[in-house]
Amino acid sequence: MAERIKTITVVGAGTMGHGIAEVAAAAGYKVYLADINREILEKALERIRWSLGKLYEKGQLREHPDTIIERITPVVSLDEKGGYSREFAEVLAKTDFMIEAIPERLELKQQLFAFADEHAPPHAILATNTSSLPITEIAAATKRPEKVVGMHFFNPPPLMPLVEVIKGEKTSDETVAVTVELAKRMGKQPVVVRKDVPGFIVNRILARIMNEACWTVARGEASIVEVDSALKYKLGLPMGPFELADYSGIDVFYYVFEAMTQRGFKAHPCPLIKEKFERKEWGVKTGKGFYEYPEPGKYVRPSIPREAGEKVDPLPIIAPGINEAAYLLREEVATRDDIDKAVKLGLGFPKGILQMADEFGIDKVVEALEKLREKTGWEEYEPDPLLRRMVEEGRLGVKTGKGFYEYGKVEERRLKTLLVRLEPPIAWIVLNRPDKLNAISPEMLSELSRVLDELEEDERIRVLVVTGEGRAFSAGADVTAFMGITPVKAMVYSRKFQEVLFKLEYYTKPVIAALNGYTLGGGLELAMAADFRFASETAVLGQPEINLGFIPGAGGTQRLPRLVPLSKAKELIYTGDMIPAQEAARIGLVDRVVPPERLEQEVRQFALKLAEKPPLALMAAKYAIQLGREAPIWAGMALESSLFGLLFSTEDVIEGVTAFLEKRRPKFKGR
Ligand code: COA
Repeated sequence: MAERIKTITVVGAGTMGHGIAEVAAAAGYKVYLADINREILEKALERIRWSLGKLYEKGQLREHPDTIIERITPVVSLDEKGGYSREFAEVLAKTDFMIEAIPERLELKQQLFAFADEHAPPHAILATNTSSLPITEIAAATKRPEKVVGMHFFNPPPLMPLVEVIKGEKTSDETVAVTVELAKRMGKQPVVVRKDVPGFIVNRILARIMNEACWTVARGEASIVEVDSALKYKLGLPMGPFELADYSGIDVFYYVFEAMTQRGFKAHPCPLIKEKFERKEWGVKTGKGFYEYPEPGKYVRPSIPREAGEKVDPLPIIAPGINEAAYLLREEVATRDDIDKAVKLGLGFPKGILQMADEFGIDKVVEALEKLREKTGWEEYEPDPLLRRMVEEGRLGVKTGKGFYEYGKVEERRLKTLLVRLEPPIAWIVLNRPDKLNAISPEMLSELSRVLDELEEDERIRVLVVTGEGRAFSAGADVTAFMGITPVKAMVYSRKFQEVLFKLEYYTKPVIAALNGYTLGGGLELAMAADFRFASETAVLGQPEINLGFIPGAGGTQRLPRLVPLSKAKELIYTGDMIPAQEAARIGLVDRVVPPERLEQEVRQFALKLAEKPPLALMAAKYAIQLGREAPIWAGMALESSLFGLLFSTEDVIEGVTAFLEKRRPKFKGR
């Protein structure tokens, strides 16, 4: 049916309307663009010409802008008396598909739809670009509610690929299907919203996250910059929520949110937004919002340092958004794939919100929501029944191989002293003698060596994590193995330990040590051979060998002074003192300290980020850095340039450069 659509009438030539008309004309449709007077229409055509010119310059149009503009005919919709004009009625009579983009006032829209219903041919579909009003109520003004549909574009329509197609209560499946097809023909990516809920998909999820970000600040738990930084850098969002609100207009957000709550969206609107709205501090357009802009209307990226968000956990801020997504899915408002597609295309998320939930772990999401609920007593934080059911069924996400998505089966292999969990692209090696605080016995050492060799060959695995079971990462070499040992055997043992740690240090894949508790002696030496050390706040680190009458024998005297200032290394080794994780972070011994319940999730997120990078380039970087550090600088430089050159023999370089030029995310294969 979509192929029978030849003529599209866009009503309303404002920000959205002119953009939609441009998209439709560029897709080859005959377009009528209607608004209440000539001035508005002339300005709209001017804006369309400018925008098409830009796209043409970038080589994104197949035709010349003039050819496209010729397809658009402006129409004044009102006559002198303020009623609809005859010309407008005649245009409607030729219309196959109408898209309304007039101000968000129900009575205005109903009037227009009643008029359009009267004049448009019976086959014509009448769509509304509303973002906040019920399709069902707009449709009620017509005698063809089955042919009235929501078609929600994102601003600016020529650049934003997403279109939400919304089914009103009476909209027919056929109308939805035709609208979806039309959106595709217009070069857009449609998602279907099967129930007419306020805010549809994107605005509902955004409202939850935005509101929570705002409450986090209002409750004094973090600052605006800290929240933005955490969401930007830890979750990879293109903008922090406050940055985004400023960019798209705090007034717009305020109105949409208000319209949604009026229609039953349960939320406690954060006072900060209202304050900003009332003070007319609307963001970029007024020169001030959550950030300041020297020239009103001109966007300059606010400064949001990466370090600012280090202490902020992004999960509780995004969890209400995940809860909303779970609701949409359970209520069959949209499919899993459409929800994730909508946040990716509508909000620029690097991955779907349900995908993110799987990575956080559904149990962790539920915990975060419960904490919010406890803190506030507000019902909207109650975890959605779908999330609860998933936890009961053990569908916790990536870590159990099943969540909203299915993952390569998590294989678990139990060796005598190790637990190896394969969660491609991550492999977790868990030191598993918890009753002995994971003391490293000769047997554990050989098992570790063997597992490292095996995982090196496994192409599915891109990142290695080493952690410990129970309350220790590892309390060190197993002291019982030293009883009655001869000096020569002790030396050989020390060499063997060193060799295994060399294997780890020069491993071809990145290695992260997740320090979950005591990290002492050989345990710390093992951790220091990893590329990164993430520690739980409860972790305690030290080289206590001196207290037993000997010195570190698995690289401690060499790696520790390479990580921390010389005198600090000496102090730790001479005194055998144990220091808490925070202090270890201060001297550079660990990279990140997080609350114990977040250790696994933070490590997983970081590991997944590394797993997306080109494996061979990662390996080259690691070798250049590690080997180079031990060599004179000229040898290091020679190594760097050789490895740099070598990478140009890989498929990944071609993929990386092509993806950059095609403006998509690269998929690296490690070939
Ligand atoms: N080698 C062998 N066994 C070890 C060990 C090690 N390095 N570290 C701890 N264990 C064993 C303990 O002997 C104990 O075993 P048991 O229950 O059979 O007696 C078990 O692990 C639990 O340790 P425990 O000392 O009871 O726990 P705690 O909470 O009182 O103290 C530590 C924790 C880490 C302070 C303490 O175990 C310790 O000092 N360990 C030795 C650290 C060390 O010197 N490492 C360097 C070795 S080269």
